[in-house]
Order: sequence, then structure tokens, then C-alpha cells
Amino acid sequence: MESPFKPEILKGKVALLTGGASGIGFEISTQFGKHGASIAIMGRRKSVVDSAVSSLQSLGIPAVGFPGDVRNQADAKRVVESTVAHYGKLDILVNAAAGNFLVSPEDLSPNGFRTVVDIDAVGTFTMCHEAVNYLKKGGPGRSSDESGGMILNISATLHYTAAWYQIHVNAAKAAVDAITRNLALEWGTDYDIRVNGIAPGPIGDTPGMRKLGPDEIETNREYMPLFKLGEKWDIAIAALYLASSAGKYVNGMTLIVDGGLWLSRPRHMPKDEVKRLSRIVEKKARAAPVGVPSSKL
Ligand code: HXC
Repeated sequence: MESPFKPEILKGKVALLTGGASGIGFEISTQFGKHGASIAIMGRRKSVVDSAVSSLQSLGIPAVGFPGDVRNQADAKRVVESTVAHYGKLDILVNAAAGNFLVSPEDLSPNGFRTVVDIDAVGTFTMCHEAVNYLKKGGPGRSSDESGGMILNISATLHYTAAWYQIHVNAAKAAVDAITRNLALEWGTDYDIRVNGIAPGPIGDTPGMRKLGPDEIETNREYMPLFKLGEKWDIAIAALYLASSAGKYVNGMTLIVDGGLWLSRPRHMPKDEVKRLSRIVEKKARAAPVGVPSSKL
């Protein structure tokens, strides 16, 4: 799909993306690159990172890859430093690395719970921690008139209520949202760094959807206001908005991009029925003396 944004909105920016070699992360890498950014990708599997870098380069996008695991602080430090050594600076950090599997709480070992929290929540914090020195206003490689950089954390909506077989992921994403708000407050104030998030709904053709079960989402589509799966493009374009100067006053927000899915509920009564019943109930209520339930009239 064609971008609604000018191709140079991220010109001169350097973006490091964890999980940037596949799924939503790769689409963000691609769209950031198409809009002028130089890209560094961090991922656990070297072959996947290498192939993503080649794809970006074939589009004329400056791209480099660094294998590493966000659970390992030494990896995080090395990758951040290598990015700055390669491009001379860092403007945008996208935390898109995540882990997921479906499991009921009683079948989930504490280590399984910890693994996902380590990847999603601790990994996000670790990357932010290692990157802050380069992202802050006046940091290495930043010109004196340049504002601070930006952090974007990929979250979810399932933890807003509760979701079956996702206790580990929901705990982790709730922590990610808290990290987003807290860093927005503290690093926004102290270092001029904006920190935002995106909470995607079900996005087609992603590892997440493959893991969470496309058939299950199919069944639920009748409850979805926009009645369809999202595309990776939807998330990447939202990321572009937040990372570009269009989002310069947006800080501490996790933007929900899910077609309204998290709000949806099964319709419990047809519309015509509501119209009819609502009038009757209203009439009864008006006729009722104060304190007498309409059912007793
Ligand atoms: C129960 C499981 C399990 C499963 C792993 N474990 N898979 N428990 N059911 N299906 C447990 C293991 O038994 C072990 O605990 C612990 O988790 C660690 O497992 P490992 O295989 O050793 O971990 P590791 O190799 O590091 O792999 C991490 C992973 C894996 C999270 C388990 O799936 C992964 O690497 N995922 C990355 C890719 C990914 O998931 N992408 C999807 C992101 S989608 P014990 O006790 O036995 O030692 C997404 C969308 C979220 O994030 C938003 C929702 C809408």
C-alpha cells in the first residue's frame, strides 16, 4: 500500500529495532527505511537477521544486522554500541522482540512465565537502559540543536481485560505499558526523549497470529467493528507517525491499532428490539411513583 507520508520524514534518522527481522518488526524496519531512516536490526537468529538486511538493502535502504538476545544485557550493550559505531548516532529504538505461546496457567512453569517476561518486559527495559545515553538530548552523535530521540514499545491489548492462555504475555505487556509511561515521564522530562507504544490487534501474516491461532480469530470476526484482520502496514504507518515530527507532542501514549477490537462485545439484543423495548421501559419508569419498581406496576 502507498504511504500517506512524504518519503523523507525520517531522513537522517537512525533506528535500531529488536525483533526487526520478522513480522511487524520487519515491516516497521521497511517503512522506516523507505521514509529515509538507516536501519539496524537486532535478532536472535543470524540467518533471519541476514536475510532481512539483504531485503532492505535490495530496496536501497541502508541496513545492518546484529545478532543478539534482548535477555542478555551484554548483547544489548554491544548491539546499541555497534549501531552507533556504524552510523554515528541513534535516534529511534523500537522494542518489537517478543515471545509467546498459548498455555493455561496451571500448565505454565514459572520458568515459562519468566521467559516471556524476560523477553518482553525486562528485554524492553534493558534495551532502553543501554540506549538512553545515545538517545538523550546532547548525547553522543547528536547535534546541539537536535531534540532527544524516541523509543517505541510494541505492546498488546489483551491485558486490558484478560485473555485465555496468555497470563505470561499479559503480565509482560502490562509491564511494557508501565515502562512506556514511566520512561515518558522521567526521560521526557530529564532527557527530551519521547517514549510511546503501539498496541496492535490481530495482524495477519505474523508469527503472533500463527501462534495464537488464525482460526480462532476467524470465528470472532463478527464482533470486530472493522470486521477484518489488520495488516503489518497499519502498525508500521502508526509507528512512522509516532517516530516522525508529526508525533513531536505525543509522549507516554500506547496507541491502539486494532480496528476497535478490544472494545467489541457480542450484541446481546437486535437493534429493532432495543428501539421497541427502550420506549416501553421508559414509559413504565415515568408512570411509576418514586421508589416503586416498574415490575410492580
Ligand atoms: C508451555 C512452554 C511452551 C509451551 C516454552 N515453554 N513453550 N510452556 N507451553 N508451548 C516453557 C519451556 O518449557 C521452558 O520452561 C520455558 O518456557 C522456556 O522455554 P525455551 O524453549 O527454553 O525458551 P526459548 O528457547 O528461549 O524460547 C522462548 C519462547 C519461544 C518464548 C518459548 O516461543 C520463542 O523464542 N519465541 C519468540 C518468537 C515468538 O514467540 N514470536 C511471537 C511473538 S507474538 P521450563 O520450566 O520447562 O524450563 C507476540 C504477540 C503478543 O508477542 C501479543 C498478543 C496479542
